[in-house]
Amino acid sequence: MTYDFDELILRRGTDSVKWDGVKELWGRDDLLPMWVADMDFRTPPFVMDALQRQLSSGILGYTRPCDDWAPAIKDWLLHRHGWQIETDWLCFVPGIVRAQAFALLCFTRPGDRVLVMPPVYHPFFLVTQKLKREVVFSPLDLRDGYYHIDFDRLEHDVEGCRVLILCNPHNPGGRVWTADELRRVADICHRYGVMVLSDEIHADLTLPGYSHHPFATVSPEAADISLTFMAPSKAFNMPGLASSYAVAVNPDIRHRFHEFMEAGEFSEGHMLAYVGCAAAYRQGEEWLLQLLTYIQGNIDFTEAFLRERIPSIGMIRPQASYLIFLDCRRLGLAQSELLRLFADGARLALNDGTMFGQGGEGFMRLNVGCPRAVLKQALEQLEAAVSHI
Ligand SMILES: Cc1ncc(COP(=O)(O)O)c(C=O)c1O
Repeated sequence: MTYDFDELILRRGTDSVKWDGVKELWGRDDLLPMWVADMDFRTPPFVMDALQRQLSSGILGYTRPCDDWAPAIKDWLLHRHGWQIETDWLCFVPGIVRAQAFALLCFTRPGDRVLVMPPVYHPFFLVTQKLKREVVFSPLDLRDGYYHIDFDRLEHDVEGCRVLILCNPHNPGGRVWTADELRRVADICHRYGVMVLSDEIHADLTLPGYSHHPFATVSPEAADISLTFMAPSKAFNMPGLASSYAVAVNPDIRHRFHEFMEAGEFSEGHMLAYVGCAAAYRQGEEWLLQLLTYIQGNIDFTEAFLRERIPSIGMIRPQASYLIFLDCRRLGLAQSELLRLFADGARLALNDGTMFGQGGEGFMRLNVGCPRAVLKQALEQLEAAVSHI
């Protein structure tokens, strides 16, 4: 079956954060939203069918995990990522940011140090700060058009930290860390007694030509010190379903985390979460392959458009996912002027690069998880605005 990613779906008026949240943040609603990380494609029909079947019972009662929830995850991880896990390593979590917060509450105390590598998905440090843990920033190094881990700096910064929150693959920038890079992270963290929370929410969106390495698979040390978070949410465009899960190999980490989650019933999913996840993983491979081809096409389109028509704006080419970090530094604008250029000039709603922390100055994050016609319109609006600078 061929899926149609060109279909234009009206999302305004559906309480979508990406579409209906524009007014709240920008004070106007005439901007084309290319920010929040969900896609403007239909959630796959086999996921919607599974949810509808579940609803057809006519009773919104308490619901246990469907029989295929754990087997579907196990088979998917083995088949797509070469990771053989055991059923009891798994724990349902109601979203990955929430799971990180639960893990911080479970494994750290107020005042403990938590390391993040900016520019990085902002809740990594915002949630940590709000929970009164101290954030240690160990910035990535932007070299040859890609982010790299500065291992000397990491080794220096990680001393005295209890936890490192790893973004694997990384957002923004879309770096797919190599097994060797991840092994070095594991080696350093293991030596300094630092636990790694590996956020792998974008793993299934690893683009053709790259391979995702689950952090826990790269070495015995990595398996020993980590708690991994994954979900079908990004890849299958179902983040509103909150159907994520954690995987812990180390029995001590597993026992402590599961006990914490069970104590507050935080690991009880709602009645649609389990069937949605199982359906995505059981029936989703062909859809995902077609999606990845389409996203790759959107990235190619953006790259060519910028090169030919807006050469003063560059981009970090993502190796995973649909989020492009636009490098606007050559425009020579202060960040406030850059924000005005995108909102008032181009009438586009993008994420301000500085929200991701140090290294984000001069950057804007563009979400290309949309029909190509919409992307073309957005880039044309940007071209017109830049031509008026
Ligand atoms: C790296 C990363 N982690 C977590 C999330 C959000 O996950 P959730 O909605 O499950 O909390 C996002 C969303 O953009 C993300 O990019």
